[in-house]
Amino acid sequence: MATLGLRPHDSGFPHRHLLGIEGLSADQISFLLDLSESYVALSRSEQKKTDLLRGRTVINLFFESSTRTRTSFELAGKRLGADVINMSVAWSSIKKGETLIDTAMTLNAMHPDVLVVRHPDSGAVKLLSEKVNGAIINAGDGSHEHPTQALLDALTIRRRKGRLAGLTVAICGDILHSRVARSNVHLLSTMGARVRLVAPPTLLPTAIERMGVEVFFDMRKALEGCDIVMMLRLQTERMHGSFVPSIREYFRFYGLDREKLSAAKDDALVMHPGPMNRGVEIDSELADDIDRSLIREQVEMGVAVRMACLDVLTRSLRRNEPPGDST
Ligand code: CP
Repeated sequence: MATLGLRPHDSGFPHRHLLGIEGLSADQISFLLDLSESYVALSRSEQKKTDLLRGRTVINLFFESSTRTRTSFELAGKRLGADVINMSVAWSSIKKGETLIDTAMTLNAMHPDVLVVRHPDSGAVKLLSEKVNGAIINAGDGSHEHPTQALLDALTIRRRKGRLAGLTVAICGDILHSRVARSNVHLLSTMGARVRLVAPPTLLPTAIERMGVEVFFDMRKALEGCDIVMMLRLQTERMHGSFVPSIREYFRFYGLDREKLSAAKDDALVMHPGPMNRGVEIDSELADDIDRSLIREQVEMGVAVRMACLDVLTRSLRRNEPPGDST
């Protein structure tokens, strides 16, 4: 079993929880990405396990469906030697009317060290962080933030392009409902990348320019000179009413195909957080093109980033120190 001890830059992440990217400094983001690199190496080695979190308990509490995030947190916890519990909300007492807070307090009484929470309401994860003793990781709350997604996206970009600063990244699609877009805007801007958002007017939040991004309605113009093109799914589960005239029309103007991608740099790379809807926001053949698409690599980086997050948020416990600040 591999052993990864505490490293010299242990104080690089002073927070008790990971609730969002907003508020993290460039140094703290770089620290998490650098640490993630060591977990990429471990995950690619024959012996993928360490006993760093032996005796620690991680509970995955997902109130929304997930394939990538839930599975990779489970794998991350297990590779670090923790006991990982996946709580199935569908079979929990929430179905009998128990509230979110009562559910969290019940789990808290069992002394988990980390709760990984996904919830459909923006702010619900922060609310839980004020009630429990362990560390909380936001695995996506409503349309607010999905911090580990932005970290894994950044790690993927940094590994391929060698840097984040100075790159131009276009985020395209349903920005209005996207926690992935928000976390990525915070992260990429903090790290010195230029961010462009492109969407139909119905799928852009008002006054989004205040986040320091450029806004486009024309996808070809938005992609001109871009290094990275990040596509987003239409989040129909968060839509009340009609936001696009038809799927066919949407793909024609905002779906990524080779013709639109040709406006970007010749070496521009394509990303998608998944799950993707082929033929809606991205051409199926382009999504599978291993020379242009980073989609599979993003999934791999997700495990490493989540190992790094579980590692840093349990360091004070492992050293018997008081937890970091409550942000
Ligand atoms: N990208 C992402 O959060 O995927 P899942 O919904 O499958 O976790």
